[in-house]
Amino acid sequence: MNAPVTLYVPRDTAALAVGADAVAEAIGQQAASRGLPVRIVRNGSRGLLWLETLVEVATPQGRVAYGPVQPEDVPGLFEAGWLTGGEHALGHGLTEEIPYLKNQERLTFARVGVTDPLSLDDYREHGGLAGLQRALDMDAAGIVAEVTASGLRGRGGAAFPAGIKWKTVLDTPADQKYIVCNADEGDSGTYADRMLMEGDPYVLLEGMAIAGLAVGATYGYIYVRSEYPQAIAVLREAIERARQAGWLGQDMLGRGRRFDLEVRVGAGAYICGEETSLLESLEGKRGVVRAKPPLPAVAGLFGKPTVVNNVITLASVPVILARGAAHYRDFGVGRSQGTLPFQLAGNLRRGGLVEKAFGLTLRELLYDFGGGSASGRPLRAVQVGGPLGAYVPESQWDIPLDYEAYAKVSAMIGHGGLVAFDDTVDMTRMARFAMEFCAVESCGKCTPCRIGSTRGVEVIDRIRAGGADREKQVHLLRDLCDTMLSGSLCALGGMTPFPVLSALDHFPEDFGIQPTEAPARAA
Ligand SMILES: Cc1cc2nc3c(=O)[nH]c(=O)nc-3n(C[C@H](O)[C@H](O)[C@H](O)COP(=O)(O)O)c2cc1C
Ligand code: SF4
Repeated sequence: MNAPVTLYVPRDTAALAVGADAVAEAIGQQAASRGLPVRIVRNGSRGLLWLETLVEVATPQGRVAYGPVQPEDVPGLFEAGWLTGGEHALGHGLTEEIPYLKNQERLTFARVGVTDPLSLDDYREHGGLAGLQRALDMDAAGIVAEVTASGLRGRGGAAFPAGIKWKTVLDTPADQKYIVCNADEGDSGTYADRMLMEGDPYVLLEGMAIAGLAVGATYGYIYVRSEYPQAIAVLREAIERARQAGWLGQDMLGRGRRFDLEVRVGAGAYICGEETSLLESLEGKRGVVRAKPPLPAVAGLFGKPTVVNNVITLASVPVILARGAAHYRDFGVGRSQGTLPFQLAGNLRRGGLVEKAFGLTLRELLYDFGGGSASGRPLRAVQVGGPLGAYVPESQWDIPLDYEAYAKVSAMIGHGGLVAFDDTVDMTRMARFAMEFCAVESCGKCTPCRIGSTRGVEVIDRIRAGGADREKQVHLLRDLCDTMLSGSLCALGGMTPFPVLSALDHFPEDFGIQPTEAPARAA
């Protein structure tokens, strides 16, 4: 009997949502009825989301991609001889040669979509654990120094240098310290955390274990939003398997060091992604922002020194340790070093995940990768960095994606999500939505955000109604934004003005007002 042919059918949520399970089942049935032995691996997604369900067939030449595959396509694919890479209308040739993938620089996502996410052997064979092994040979200060030298900054939004945060926790004496992974991923148009957790969970566990060694923490929590059941299930299974294999627990890799962790599920509030609300929630309380100081690094979870980092920040650590800080730092520009998984969403032909070094432009992402608008109409505005990010107009699409360059134009890169809109977008509605979102999601602790956002919706409604005092209402809206910017306790109230003011400044015609020379605001 012939050796079975391996086919990869993603079990990522994006693929499941378009019927990947039914495709896998159809492949199994067709193969059995034709007497053709196949082995189906449920991998993560390659991030070419418009091609899901993307099925790959392992051939001697490499993995050949077919997509988007529906269950009814499967008989025809067998007829076309796809088990040997046969040609078909849904065929895209060798997966690695697809320009969308080939033109990326995948460091953090190197294994995602390639391996079986839960296979310990796959993980090791594809370079896994090399970072942890090296960290186990270093002292804590050495690990912190390496992460600092890599230039890694927090990928959750604020871009704070990871090494500096870790050093604060390391230098704060305590009987217990914690590593908390922020997997609340509430930003609009973002899914990198989810894809990573579903497609390569061990890299996150490895990153957290290294963080534990670096700061002297022996326990960790991954706080995952409840909307991610697949990620939660994969993580829980991965933790169990890693424990059984001795990668986690009392004696990590037989080296006598301790680190263990568990998954906690959030209850669906955007504000619980803010690190201090997240800690409140982890402690079993309502998610309300804590005033700082003290920083979580000094007094965090249960009052103990705590590293709170985003999924992508922590998952970037193993490759930094494995290949060295200099290798990582060589990617990127200025003080934005390394790579970022950009997430293309909204009105684009080719939505998906693009991991690239900082420094490319929005125009390249929108057109070279995204293929322009899905509607065929001209693109007009792109919201970058989630619901608190600015609407970036075409005149700024050639600015390099770099934290400082974006801050200079009162925009932010944040978690790397971008949502594209064509020329049918009404920017007054977008501005209203920003205020409405803030009103709904506000934790209520401070007045500028709690009351200001509701007043903001009302003012924008008056502008939209087009009364005679429109200019006066716009003035009022700018005043209100100033108050929220400078008077809010956290970035929810403090950054909601970014989308509102960017809509006003860059698209004044939608508000029925004349363009103004708006002063640049500090990020
Ligand atoms: C309203 C609000 C929501 C946030 N949501 C998230 C989130 O979903 N995920 C995340 O990693 N960081 C989020 N952050 C940022 C966190 O407060 C914190 O900066 C981050 O978890 C630190 O990790 P990093 O340094 O690795 O980015 C949010 C911040 C605010 C103000
Ligand atoms: S800005 Fe809003 S979310 Fe943040 S502390 Fe104030 S009320 Fe809470």
